[in-house]
Amino acid sequence: MIEERFGQGLPFPEDCPGTDTLQGLLSHRTQRAYSKKPLDEELLQVLFACALSSPTKSDLQQADIIHVRNPEKRRAFAELIPGMPWVKEAPVFLVFCGNGRRIRQVSELHGTLFANDHLDAFFNAAVDAAMVMATFINAAEAAGLGCCPISAVRNHCSAVNRLLQLPDLVFPVAGLCVGYPEKEGHLSLRLPLDVTVHTDTFDEAGLEDQIKSYDQRRASAMPESNRYLWSEAKARQYAMPQRTDFGDYVRGKGFKLT
Ligand SMILES: Cc1cc2nc3c(=O)[nH]c(=O)nc-3n(C[C@H](O)[C@H](O)[C@H](O)COP(=O)(O)O)c2cc1C
Repeated sequence: MIEERFGQGLPFPEDCPGTDTLQGLLSHRTQRAYSKKPLDEELLQVLFACALSSPTKSDLQQADIIHVRNPEKRRAFAELIPGMPWVKEAPVFLVFCGNGRRIRQVSELHGTLFANDHLDAFFNAAVDAAMVMATFINAAEAAGLGCCPISAVRNHCSAVNRLLQLPDLVFPVAGLCVGYPEKEGHLSLRLPLDVTVHTDTFDEAGLEDQIKSYDQRRASAMPESNRYLWSEAKARQYAMPQRTDFGDYVRGKGFKLT
């Protein structure tokens, strides 16, 4: 599995405990096609508990999960993001939010000054929410489910605010589609570990060649009819401005980004 994803195999320690868990992590794939099988409510609650057991910066617990159950709200999300039909079709749709509000409420409760009104306050809440979402995905996959994060919700922050009635200092990090996979799904290849894992110092030696060879390895794993180069596609994607209003939205929510 490591060789398939990264293009380089690794020796696997023989007496390593938790191999099932590690294999589960290595076989991660985003799922965008779901069967009609509904999710058990009890399972969902357990997955929330797993997700919210993630580490959290200074134990501040600055992440919230909103389960969008109301059919009209579900429809509204699907209509906001028509290019991703999995938003409509997933049995469950969640929105993971960063929450910079609670710690200020706690400060108020104790009559203390909140002296950390700067970029780090936003960043910490965003990181907490991302960690909670990642843990939710890992737990859901271990339970046989598949997920697809939806950062496209941030293309529609004002509408999301309205739909979910998000107060000041609470902002969406990503939506998440959840359901039982209809089919196995596609394994997305990654840059080699040599590019993304560094020892002692950050090292970009040979990056261009590594990217070119990753492009080729990835392309050769694609069906001929739909073959493209990863770096070319990503460069093209980022040649177009995206979410240029997000900073204003976050500032409007009450965060100082200085
Ligand atoms: C923060 C985040 C936001 C994402 N947003 C979207 C999205 O809006 N729509 C979508 O179809 N996939 C989305 N994805 C899924 C990525 O496209 C996917 O993780 C990536 O292509 C790698 O594939 P893999 O997860 O199967 O390894 C998102 C993933 C992350 C982590």
